[in-house]
Amino acid sequence: MKSLLSGESLVRRYGDVTALGGVSLELARGEILALGGPSGSGKTTLLAMLGGLETPTEGRVMLDGYDLYALSHAVRARVRGDRVGFVFQTHNLLSTLTAEENVMLAVQHGPNPTGDPRARARESLALLGVTHEAGRLPRALSLGQQQRVAIARALAAGPPVIIADEPTASLDSQSGAAVLDALKLAAQRGCAVLLATHDPRCLAIASRVVTLRDGRCEAPPAA
Ligand SMILES: Nc1ncnc2c1ncn2[C@@H]1O[C@H](COP(=O)(O)OP(=O)(O)OP(=O)(O)O)[C@@H](O)[C@H]1O
Ligand SMILES: [Mg+2]
Repeated sequence: MKSLLSGESLVRRYGDVTALGGVSLELARGEILALGGPSGSGKTTLLAMLGGLETPTEGRVMLDGYDLYALSHAVRARVRGDRVGFVFQTHNLLSTLTAEENVMLAVQHGPNPTGDPRARARESLALLGVTHEAGRLPRALSLGQQQRVAIARALAAGPPVIIADEPTASLDSQSGAAVLDALKLAAQRGCAVLLATHDPRCLAIASRVVTLRDGRCEAPPAA
């Protein structure tokens, strides 16, 4: 299968600290790749580089045929914005917009702004089990509900790649299960899903697990 996203020999140094010491991996459509490994092993750093948010010290990232860091900043931002939905550990919802408005905004600015944005937002919120919270501001939601809205927002825009850093870390088991179901569905629809996680429930839905240790792959991903 042709990969949609690949990192080639990625190195990231911060001064004397080598956060990543040469990692390569590929991700294809429909796949869920889970990145495991202890705290400080380089998971977030790798996600940021693969998602076009942080320039590698060495190596190359190819996203949908684009050599990401060979592009200008502006073009890279557009390529990323059209293709990657991010779910961060802290949810980053806009505090002055309701849950539904947060999701609608992502639909309207996403790669595929067709159809009724409100209907698409509601569908995505329903998928994550937060229909009743649609009209509330983020501060009136629990952390688990906020995270579910953030994931509804990432999925609603319909990006070909989802990158999620510890998407279930702050969630109770019911919210966690809703998030995992939504990520599985995204993969079934052909999305490539990349997650960093310590959570065995996340590892269980992965089609592949890569473990990082001290900035290197412990077991190289299968070809
Ligand atoms: N901006 C930065 N400046 C300096 N060092 C950094 C920076 N970002 C990350 N590091 C270092 O790089 C290494 C990898 O960090 P990273 O956040 O990628 O780990 P992680 O696997 O995501 O850990 P966790 O499971 O705790 O989230 C750590 O040693 C960290 O201190
Ligand atoms: Mg991290």
